[in-house]
Amino acid sequence: MNRKPRVIRCPEQMHAWAKKARAAGKRIALVPTMGFLHRGHDVLMQQAQTVGDVTVASIFVNPSQFAPHEDLASYPRDLDADLARLTLLGVDAVFAPSVASMYPEGFDHYVTPTALAQTLCGKSRPQHFRGVCTVVAMLLRMTLCHVAVFGRKDYQQWRIVQRMVRDLWLDVEIVGVPTVRDADGLALSSRNSYLSAKQRLAAQILPRTLNDLACAVADGACDSATLLQHARETIAREPQACLEYIAIVDPTSLQPVTQVGLQGLCAAAVVVGKTRLIDNCELRSA
Ligand code: PAF
Repeated sequence: MNRKPRVIRCPEQMHAWAKKARAAGKRIALVPTMGFLHRGHDVLMQQAQTVGDVTVASIFVNPSQFAPHEDLASYPRDLDADLARLTLLGVDAVFAPSVASMYPEGFDHYVTPTALAQTLCGKSRPQHFRGVCTVVAMLLRMTLCHVAVFGRKDYQQWRIVQRMVRDLWLDVEIVGVPTVRDADGLALSSRNSYLSAKQRLAAQILPRTLNDLACAVADGACDSATLLQHARETIAREPQACLEYIAIVDPTSLQPVTQVGLQGLCAAAVVVGKTRLIDNCELRSA
């Protein structure tokens, strides 16, 4: 039976806990989350446990990464279930701060990524990655972590955070963990809970199309325009799915490529009902 993790509700306490852990020579691994944890998060926690001596999970639905018309208020939350899950996993500390403690009166500084945040999801969510970078920078400092673990389902987020840490010399190792999927192919996401059974069936068009595209690349196809046209036509045949974007990009610069070289990334976003879903697949040519 695992011990309950230490639950820390304010940044000052988090920082004090982290300083003690560092003084005791512990390597701190952080998994930043917005809660409503699922099997995909379990894998992130397990990865953190292999790269750190102590594991901290943060649970914070960060207002600055949501646009006014997005789902901040309705974002699913269940702290008790999350704590039970993290206890089973043997996580050492849970940092679940309030909005007021993270963004106190007079808060005035943001971290703004540029080129990497202007493609893919950044086109329809122009302030999103500024909010992500700001809160991640704060979490890295508050938890004094040596290593932080992110899911590659949010591939653009992972790459932007990696670049932020490099550019700002934050001295933290960033680990990206491959996407975990349900048996029907859907990438695990807290937002999947918004989908009805029918919408879930329709949503499968996203991983299926990405998988078909990756197979075509593995079989030798390399012209992005042809591959994307085929993918767009496939998604258009699913009446419940509305394609926001699909792109083939260089996996590091995230800029579109006309030909898939040795490596590439195909990323896409679709809206099913009112739920926006993102997914991606890494491409390896023959
Ligand atoms: O991926 C998420 O859940 C969030 O964007 C993160 C990294 C926890 C920042 O709020």
